[in-house]
Amino acid sequence: MLTSRRATVYQIATVDSSNRPHVRSQIHRGFLTPPGLPHLPLLLTSTDSRTPKTKQLAHTDFVELAWWIDGSADQFRVLGRARLVSSAGISPARTPPECAGLAALDAAGFDWEGARRGQFDDVSEHMRASWCRPPPGDVLPGGYEEMDSWPTTVKKPSDARTEEEKALAAEALGNYALVVIEPLEVDWVQMAIRPNRRTRFTRVDDGWEEVPVVP
Ligand SMILES: Cc1cc2nc3c(=O)[nH]c(=O)nc-3n(C[C@H](O)[C@H](O)[C@H](O)COP(=O)(O)O)c2cc1C
Repeated sequence: MLTSRRATVYQIATVDSSNRPHVRSQIHRGFLTPPGLPHLPLLLTSTDSRTPKTKQLAHTDFVELAWWIDGSADQFRVLGRARLVSSAGISPARTPPECAGLAALDAAGFDWEGARRGQFDDVSEHMRASWCRPPPGDVLPGGYEEMDSWPTTVKKPSDARTEEEKALAAEALGNYALVVIEPLEVDWVQMAIRPNRRTRFTRVDDGWEEVPVVP
């Protein structure tokens, strides 16, 4: 899959229990390569486990993301299934049968909780503080001034020394979750080519079927 160092944000759509769509930007945190299946990379992003998107993922783990790569003028639209890795564990508990990549990592004993903690340790102290706030989307009864009392930096657990630092690190880690997406369909539009090209990739068994389609 083509990518670019600067194209680190995609938009992920989910569906709620009333069948309403919701879409939001998320930072791409990297790929996970299932052992023996390098052609089935999984996408890794992260979130606060208290956000509405996690409830939508509990309703259905099907997601679609749109990733615009400005440098090369490519659009990748990826339909997939999402796994949430939070302090409460893995959801959905059963791996969907078509998710060969997730299944391969599970079979190899991949340490999902270790991956969650590793990603948590890698972000900035400022970013970590965002998981020590009231639940995202809650109304601020005191207005924006209410935010002045929130912590602005939070250390990773291994750097926390005081009791307060340790409590904040534990609270942030408790609210932090990974979202792992296994692609099942990829719709690739090449806008830099005239006429534009569009190719649809569909998962067939453990591989991909590739067909050119009308842009
Ligand atoms: C450029 C950009 C990057 C973002 N990255 C993330 C992210 O990686 N994870 C995340 O949960 N929210 C991210 N957000 C915030 C979400 O877009 C969204 O506002 C928030 O997660 C609440 O979404 P929800 O109410 O649909 O759960 C980002 C927003 C912007 C503008």
